[in-house]
Amino acid sequence: MYNSVDRNSPFDENIPELDMAYLQQILRQQAQRRPLYENVAIIGCGYVGTALAYHWQEQGHFVTGTTTSPERFASLSQIASNVVVMKGNDSKAMESLLPEQDTVVVSVAPTGDSFAGQDVYFTTYLSTAKNLVKALKQTPRVKQIIYLSSCSVYGNREGNWVDETSPVAPSDLRSQVLCEAEKILLQASSENQRVCILRLGGIYGPGRELIRMFGDLAGMTLPGKGDRFINWIHRDDIVGAIDFARLNELEGIYNLVDDSRLTVKEQVESIFSYYGLPPVYWDSSKPLRRNNLLVSNQKLKAAGYQLVYPKLFI
Ligand SMILES: NC(=O)c1ccc[n+]([C@@H]2O[C@H](COP(=O)([O-])OP(=O)(O)OC[C@H]3O[C@@H](n4cnc5c(N)ncnc54)[C@H](OP(=O)(O)O)[C@@H]3O)[C@@H](O)[C@H]2O)c1
Repeated sequence: MYNSVDRNSPFDENIPELDMAYLQQILRQQAQRRPLYENVAIIGCGYVGTALAYHWQEQGHFVTGTTTSPERFASLSQIASNVVVMKGNDSKAMESLLPEQDTVVVSVAPTGDSFAGQDVYFTTYLSTAKNLVKALKQTPRVKQIIYLSSCSVYGNREGNWVDETSPVAPSDLRSQVLCEAEKILLQASSENQRVCILRLGGIYGPGRELIRMFGDLAGMTLPGKGDRFINWIHRDDIVGAIDFARLNELEGIYNLVDDSRLTVKEQVESIFSYYGLPPVYWDSSKPLRRNNLLVSNQKLKAAGYQLVYPKLFI
Protein backbone atom coordinates (compact mmCIF):
# COMPACT_ATOMS: atom_id res chain seq x y z
CA MET A 1 0.00 0.00 0.00
CA TYR A 2 1.19 3.50 -0.81
CA ASN A 3 0.34 6.43 1.33
CA SER A 4 0.38 10.08 0.37
CA VAL A 5 3.85 10.70 1.83
CA ASP A 6 5.45 7.60 0.37
CA ARG A 7 8.37 8.85 -1.76
CA ASN A 8 8.09 5.81 -4.02
CA SER A 9 4.47 6.38 -4.77
CA PRO A 10 3.72 6.17 -8.49
CA PHE A 11 1.05 8.80 -7.98
CA ASP A 12 1.61 12.53 -8.20
CA GLU A 13 2.38 13.71 -4.69
CA ASN A 14 1.49 17.29 -5.53
CA ILE A 15 -2.19 16.69 -5.78
CA PRO A 16 -3.70 20.18 -5.51
CA GLU A 17 -6.00 20.95 -2.64
CA LEU A 18 -9.64 20.50 -3.35
CA ASP A 19 -10.99 23.74 -4.84
CA MET A 20 -14.09 24.09 -2.69
CA ALA A 21 -15.31 27.20 -4.52
CA TYR A 22 -15.16 25.34 -7.84
CA LEU A 23 -16.87 22.30 -6.35
CA GLN A 24 -19.63 24.44 -4.91
CA GLN A 25 -20.06 26.14 -8.27
CA ILE A 26 -20.51 22.75 -9.97
CA LEU A 27 -23.01 21.61 -7.35
CA ARG A 28 -24.93 24.88 -7.72
CA GLN A 29 -24.95 24.50 -11.48
CA GLN A 30 -26.21 20.94 -11.22
CA ALA A 31 -28.96 22.05 -8.87
CA GLN A 32 -29.89 24.71 -11.41
CA ARG A 33 -29.88 22.31 -14.36
CA ARG A 34 -27.76 24.56 -16.60
CA PRO A 35 -24.47 23.34 -18.05
CA LEU A 36 -21.31 24.81 -16.55
CA TYR A 37 -20.18 26.28 -19.85
CA GLU A 38 -22.47 27.40 -22.63
CA ASN A 39 -22.42 29.02 -26.02
CA VAL A 40 -23.86 32.47 -25.40
CA ALA A 41 -24.63 35.17 -27.94
CA ILE A 42 -24.94 38.84 -27.00
CA ILE A 43 -26.70 40.81 -29.71
CA GLY A 44 -25.56 44.39 -29.18
CA CYS A 45 -22.20 44.58 -27.40
CA GLY A 46 -22.52 48.21 -26.34
CA TYR A 47 -22.14 49.47 -22.75
CA VAL A 48 -23.96 46.58 -21.03
CA GLY A 49 -23.27 43.93 -23.68
CA THR A 50 -19.51 44.48 -23.47
CA ALA A 51 -19.47 44.17 -19.67
CA LEU A 52 -21.55 40.99 -19.94
CA ALA A 53 -19.27 39.54 -22.63
CA TYR A 54 -16.25 40.18 -20.42
CA HIS A 55 -17.92 38.52 -17.42
CA TRP A 56 -19.08 35.42 -19.30
CA GLN A 57 -15.79 35.03 -21.14
CA GLU A 58 -14.01 35.11 -17.75
CA GLN A 59 -16.38 32.39 -16.50
CA GLY A 60 -15.39 30.14 -19.40
CA HIS A 61 -18.42 30.42 -21.68
CA PHE A 62 -17.99 30.60 -25.43
CA VAL A 63 -19.15 34.16 -26.09
CA THR A 64 -20.29 35.49 -29.45
CA GLY A 65 -20.80 39.24 -29.42
CA THR A 66 -22.28 41.42 -32.12
CA THR A 67 -21.73 45.01 -33.15
CA THR A 68 -22.94 47.03 -36.13
CA SER A 69 -19.57 48.81 -36.33
CA PRO A 70 -16.70 47.12 -38.22
CA GLU A 71 -14.23 49.40 -36.41
CA ARG A 72 -15.21 47.79 -33.08
CA PHE A 73 -14.33 44.26 -34.30
CA ALA A 74 -10.73 44.30 -33.04
CA SER A 75 -11.49 45.64 -29.55
CA LEU A 76 -14.43 43.27 -29.04
CA SER A 77 -12.30 40.33 -30.19
CA GLN A 78 -10.25 40.84 -27.03
CA ILE A 79 -13.22 40.04 -24.79
CA ALA A 80 -15.36 37.69 -26.89
CA SER A 81 -14.38 34.38 -28.51
CA ASN A 82 -16.27 35.30 -31.63
CA VAL A 83 -17.33 38.70 -32.96
CA VAL A 84 -19.96 39.19 -35.65
CA VAL A 85 -20.58 42.50 -37.39
CA MET A 86 -24.29 42.50 -38.10
CA LYS A 87 -27.58 44.29 -37.66
CA GLY A 88 -30.54 42.57 -36.03
CA ASN A 89 -32.68 43.47 -39.02
CA ASP A 90 -30.46 41.33 -41.25
CA SER A 91 -32.41 38.05 -41.24
CA LYS A 92 -29.66 36.01 -42.91
CA ALA A 93 -27.11 37.15 -40.34
CA MET A 94 -29.55 36.26 -37.54
CA GLU A 95 -30.13 32.80 -39.02
CA SER A 96 -26.43 32.05 -39.07
CA LEU A 97 -25.81 33.48 -35.59
CA LEU A 98 -28.32 31.33 -33.70
CA PRO A 99 -27.88 27.60 -34.47
CA GLU A 100 -24.94 26.92 -32.13
CA GLN A 101 -26.17 29.08 -29.23
CA ASP A 102 -27.61 27.94 -25.89
CA THR A 103 -28.52 31.40 -24.56
CA VAL A 104 -29.13 34.64 -26.46
CA VAL A 105 -29.14 38.08 -24.84
CA VAL A 106 -30.56 41.03 -26.75
CA SER A 107 -29.11 44.37 -25.66
CA VAL A 108 -29.70 46.62 -28.64
CA ALA A 109 -30.29 50.36 -28.75
CA PRO A 110 -29.78 52.94 -31.46
CA THR A 111 -26.25 54.30 -31.10
CA GLY A 112 -24.47 57.29 -32.52
CA ASP A 113 -27.61 59.42 -32.85
CA SER A 114 -29.41 60.50 -29.71
CA PHE A 115 -32.35 61.82 -31.81
CA ALA A 116 -33.06 58.53 -33.52
CA GLY A 117 -36.31 58.66 -35.47
CA GLN A 118 -39.18 56.25 -35.79
CA ASP A 119 -37.60 54.15 -38.55
CA VAL A 120 -34.40 53.68 -36.51
CA TYR A 121 -36.38 52.50 -33.48
CA PHE A 122 -38.42 50.15 -35.66
CA THR A 123 -35.31 48.71 -37.27
CA THR A 124 -33.31 48.39 -34.07
CA TYR A 125 -35.93 46.94 -31.76
CA LEU A 126 -38.80 45.52 -33.81
CA SER A 127 -36.95 44.07 -36.79
CA THR A 128 -34.39 42.50 -34.45
CA ALA A 129 -37.16 40.93 -32.33
CA LYS A 130 -39.05 39.63 -35.39
CA ASN A 131 -35.94 38.17 -37.03
CA LEU A 132 -34.94 36.54 -33.77
CA VAL A 133 -38.33 34.89 -33.33
CA LYS A 134 -38.27 33.67 -36.94
CA ALA A 135 -34.76 32.24 -36.60
CA LEU A 136 -35.61 30.59 -33.24
CA LYS A 137 -38.04 28.22 -34.94
CA GLN A 138 -35.13 26.68 -36.86
CA THR A 139 -32.77 26.57 -33.87
CA PRO A 140 -33.97 24.17 -31.16
CA ARG A 141 -30.61 24.35 -29.39
CA VAL A 142 -31.40 27.86 -28.09
CA LYS A 143 -32.91 27.39 -24.63
CA GLN A 144 -33.34 30.94 -23.43
CA ILE A 145 -33.67 34.50 -24.72
CA ILE A 146 -32.97 37.33 -22.29
CA TYR A 147 -34.22 40.65 -23.59
CA LEU A 148 -33.25 44.03 -22.11
CA SER A 149 -36.23 46.35 -22.09
CA SER A 150 -36.96 49.45 -20.01
CA CYS A 151 -39.18 50.56 -17.12
CA SER A 152 -40.22 53.41 -19.42
CA VAL A 153 -42.89 51.03 -20.76
CA TYR A 154 -44.93 51.84 -17.59
CA GLY A 155 -45.17 55.50 -18.62
CA ASN A 156 -45.91 58.28 -16.14
CA ARG A 157 -47.56 57.14 -12.86
CA GLU A 158 -47.38 60.47 -10.99
CA GLY A 159 -45.02 59.00 -8.40
CA ASN A 160 -47.01 55.81 -7.74
CA TRP A 161 -45.71 52.27 -7.54
CA VAL A 162 -45.70 49.79 -10.42
CA ASP A 163 -44.80 46.13 -10.52
CA GLU A 164 -44.77 43.52 -13.27
CA THR A 165 -48.54 43.08 -13.05
CA SER A 166 -49.18 46.79 -13.80
CA PRO A 167 -50.42 47.45 -17.32
CA VAL A 168 -47.98 49.16 -19.65
CA ALA A 169 -48.72 52.76 -20.67
CA PRO A 170 -45.84 53.98 -22.82
CA SER A 171 -45.75 57.73 -23.24
CA ASP A 172 -43.22 58.05 -26.06
CA LEU A 173 -42.33 56.32 -29.29
CA ARG A 174 -39.29 54.45 -28.01
CA SER A 175 -41.28 52.97 -25.12
CA GLN A 176 -44.13 51.99 -27.46
CA VAL A 177 -41.67 50.20 -29.69
CA LEU A 178 -40.10 48.45 -26.68
CA CYS A 179 -43.57 47.25 -25.59
CA GLU A 180 -44.17 45.87 -29.05
CA ALA A 181 -40.79 44.11 -29.09
CA GLU A 182 -41.53 42.58 -25.65
CA LYS A 183 -44.85 41.27 -26.93
CA ILE A 184 -43.31 39.71 -30.03
CA LEU A 185 -40.73 37.88 -27.95
CA LEU A 186 -43.07 36.76 -25.17
CA GLN A 187 -45.44 35.26 -27.72
CA ALA A 188 -42.55 33.10 -28.95
CA SER A 189 -41.84 31.75 -25.46
CA SER A 190 -42.27 28.00 -25.05
CA GLU A 191 -41.36 25.19 -22.67
CA ASN A 192 -38.12 24.59 -24.57
CA GLN A 193 -37.28 28.19 -25.48
CA ARG A 194 -37.91 30.47 -22.51
CA VAL A 195 -38.10 34.23 -22.89
CA CYS A 196 -37.10 36.48 -19.99
CA ILE A 197 -37.67 40.23 -20.23
CA LEU A 198 -35.68 42.45 -17.88
CA ARG A 199 -37.17 45.95 -17.58
CA LEU A 200 -34.25 48.18 -16.62
CA GLY A 201 -34.14 51.49 -14.82
CA GLY A 202 -31.73 54.17 -16.01
CA ILE A 203 -28.30 52.63 -16.47
CA TYR A 204 -25.24 54.00 -14.70
CA GLY A 205 -21.82 52.66 -13.80
CA PRO A 206 -18.16 52.98 -14.77
CA GLY A 207 -17.87 55.43 -17.67
CA ARG A 208 -21.52 56.46 -17.16
CA GLU A 209 -21.17 57.94 -13.68
CA LEU A 210 -24.03 59.98 -12.25
CA ILE A 211 -21.74 62.98 -11.90
CA ARG A 212 -21.18 62.90 -15.69
CA MET A 213 -24.93 62.93 -16.28
CA PHE A 214 -25.82 65.62 -13.72
CA GLY A 215 -22.59 67.61 -13.23
CA ASP A 216 -23.38 70.27 -15.87
CA LEU A 217 -26.55 71.21 -13.98
CA ALA A 218 -24.62 72.61 -10.98
CA GLY A 219 -25.83 76.10 -10.06
CA MET A 220 -28.65 76.02 -12.65
CA THR A 221 -32.37 76.57 -12.19
CA LEU A 222 -34.44 73.65 -13.43
CA PRO A 223 -38.15 73.37 -14.15
CA GLY A 224 -40.37 71.60 -11.62
CA LYS A 225 -39.91 70.80 -7.95
CA GLY A 226 -37.41 67.98 -8.31
CA ASP A 227 -39.94 65.63 -6.74
CA ARG A 228 -39.89 63.16 -9.62
CA PHE A 229 -38.51 59.66 -8.89
CA ILE A 230 -35.79 58.26 -11.14
CA ASN A 231 -35.20 54.53 -10.91
CA TRP A 232 -31.60 53.51 -11.49
CA ILE A 233 -29.69 50.29 -11.98
CA HIS A 234 -25.94 49.84 -11.85
CA ARG A 235 -24.27 48.15 -14.81
CA ASP A 236 -22.84 45.38 -12.62
CA ASP A 237 -26.32 44.49 -11.38
CA ILE A 238 -27.51 44.19 -14.97
CA VAL A 239 -24.69 41.74 -15.66
CA GLY A 240 -25.43 39.97 -12.36
CA ALA A 241 -29.16 39.73 -13.02
CA ILE A 242 -28.68 38.43 -16.57
CA ASP A 243 -26.39 35.72 -15.24
CA PHE A 244 -28.92 34.96 -12.50
CA ALA A 245 -31.73 34.77 -15.09
CA ARG A 246 -29.65 32.32 -17.14
CA LEU A 247 -28.71 30.09 -14.21
CA ASN A 248 -32.24 29.99 -12.85
CA GLU A 249 -33.95 29.75 -16.22
CA LEU A 250 -36.18 32.73 -15.46
CA GLU A 251 -38.99 33.44 -17.84
CA GLY A 252 -41.53 36.24 -18.11
CA ILE A 253 -41.10 39.85 -17.04
CA TYR A 254 -38.83 41.09 -14.22
CA ASN A 255 -38.15 44.70 -13.23
CA LEU A 256 -34.52 45.49 -12.62
CA VAL A 257 -33.95 48.63 -10.52
CA ASP A 258 -32.07 49.30 -7.30
CA ASP A 259 -33.55 50.08 -3.86
CA SER A 260 -32.68 53.78 -3.77
CA ARG A 261 -36.18 55.29 -4.31
CA LEU A 262 -34.95 58.88 -4.33
CA THR A 263 -36.40 61.94 -6.04
CA VAL A 264 -34.24 63.68 -8.59
CA LYS A 265 -33.76 66.52 -6.06
CA GLU A 266 -32.47 64.10 -3.42
CA GLN A 267 -30.19 62.41 -5.94
CA VAL A 268 -28.72 65.65 -7.25
CA GLU A 269 -28.23 67.00 -3.71
CA SER A 270 -26.29 63.95 -2.59
CA ILE A 271 -24.15 63.87 -5.73
CA PHE A 272 -23.37 67.61 -5.62
CA SER A 273 -22.65 67.71 -1.92
CA TYR A 274 -20.26 64.74 -2.36
CA TYR A 275 -18.37 66.56 -5.15
CA GLY A 276 -18.64 70.03 -3.52
CA LEU A 277 -20.63 71.52 -6.42
CA PRO A 278 -23.09 74.44 -6.17
CA PRO A 279 -26.70 73.30 -5.69
CA VAL A 280 -29.48 73.18 -8.26
CA TYR A 281 -32.49 75.51 -7.86
CA TRP A 282 -36.01 74.46 -8.77
CA ASP A 283 -38.68 76.62 -10.39
CA SER A 284 -42.04 75.04 -9.62
CA SER A 285 -43.83 77.61 -11.78
CA LYS A 286 -42.44 75.76 -14.79
CA PRO A 287 -44.04 72.30 -14.87
CA LEU A 288 -42.06 69.31 -16.07
CA ARG A 289 -43.72 66.54 -18.05
CA ARG A 290 -41.53 63.50 -17.46
CA ASN A 291 -42.19 59.96 -16.25
CA ASN A 292 -42.51 59.82 -12.48
CA LEU A 293 -42.90 56.37 -10.95
CA LEU A 294 -41.58 54.01 -8.33
CA VAL A 295 -40.68 50.61 -9.72
CA SER A 296 -40.85 47.51 -7.53
CA ASN A 297 -37.96 45.03 -7.71
CA GLN A 298 -39.59 42.52 -5.33
CA LYS A 299 -40.24 39.86 -7.96
CA LEU A 300 -36.57 39.51 -8.89
CA LYS A 301 -35.54 39.60 -5.23
CA ALA A 302 -38.12 36.96 -4.35
CA ALA A 303 -36.59 34.78 -7.08
CA GLY A 304 -33.32 35.05 -5.13
CA TYR A 305 -31.32 37.82 -6.78
CA GLN A 306 -29.27 39.98 -4.40
CA LEU A 307 -28.36 43.46 -5.62
CA VAL A 308 -24.66 44.32 -5.72
CA TYR A 309 -25.51 48.06 -5.56
CA PRO A 310 -28.84 48.40 -3.70
CA LYS A 311 -28.13 52.11 -3.08
CA LEU A 312 -26.93 54.73 -5.55
CA PHE A 313 -23.17 54.46 -5.92
CA ILE A 314 -21.86 58.03 -6.17
N1 LIG B 1 -29.39 53.61 -21.39
C1 LIG B 1 -30.33 53.44 -20.48
O1 LIG B 1 -30.40 54.16 -19.45
C2 LIG B 1 -31.34 52.33 -20.66
C3 LIG B 1 -32.46 52.28 -19.81
C4 LIG B 1 -33.32 51.21 -19.93
C5 LIG B 1 -33.08 50.20 -20.86
N2 LIG B 1 -31.99 50.28 -21.70
C6 LIG B 1 -31.76 49.16 -22.62
O2 LIG B 1 -30.62 48.47 -22.14
C7 LIG B 1 -29.93 47.85 -23.23
C8 LIG B 1 -28.46 48.14 -23.13
O3 LIG B 1 -28.25 49.53 -23.24
P1 LIG B 1 -26.80 50.11 -23.53
O4 LIG B 1 -26.77 51.44 -22.89
O5 LIG B 1 -25.76 49.10 -23.18
O6 LIG B 1 -26.85 50.28 -25.10
P2 LIG B 1 -25.69 50.85 -26.05
O7 LIG B 1 -24.43 51.09 -25.28
O8 LIG B 1 -26.27 52.00 -26.78
O9 LIG B 1 -25.41 49.63 -27.04
C9 LIG B 1 -26.35 49.24 -27.98
C10 LIG B 1 -25.80 48.14 -28.85
O10 LIG B 1 -26.78 47.84 -29.85
C11 LIG B 1 -26.11 47.76 -31.12
N3 LIG B 1 -27.06 48.08 -32.19
C12 LIG B 1 -27.53 49.28 -32.61
N4 LIG B 1 -28.40 49.12 -33.61
C13 LIG B 1 -28.48 47.78 -33.85
C14 LIG B 1 -29.21 46.98 -34.78
N5 LIG B 1 -30.03 47.50 -35.69
N6 LIG B 1 -29.03 45.64 -34.73
C15 LIG B 1 -28.19 45.06 -33.82
N7 LIG B 1 -27.48 45.77 -32.94
C16 LIG B 1 -27.63 47.12 -32.93
C17 LIG B 1 -24.99 48.77 -31.02
O11 LIG B 1 -24.03 48.49 -32.02
P3 LIG B 1 -22.60 49.22 -32.11
O12 LIG B 1 -21.67 48.32 -31.34
O13 LIG B 1 -22.29 49.27 -33.55
O14 LIG B 1 -22.75 50.58 -31.48
C18 LIG B 1 -24.50 48.50 -29.60
O15 LIG B 1 -23.62 47.42 -29.58
C19 LIG B 1 -30.60 48.33 -24.49
O16 LIG B 1 -31.49 47.32 -24.93
C20 LIG B 1 -31.39 49.54 -24.05
O17 LIG B 1 -32.54 49.72 -24.85
C21 LIG B 1 -31.14 51.30 -21.61
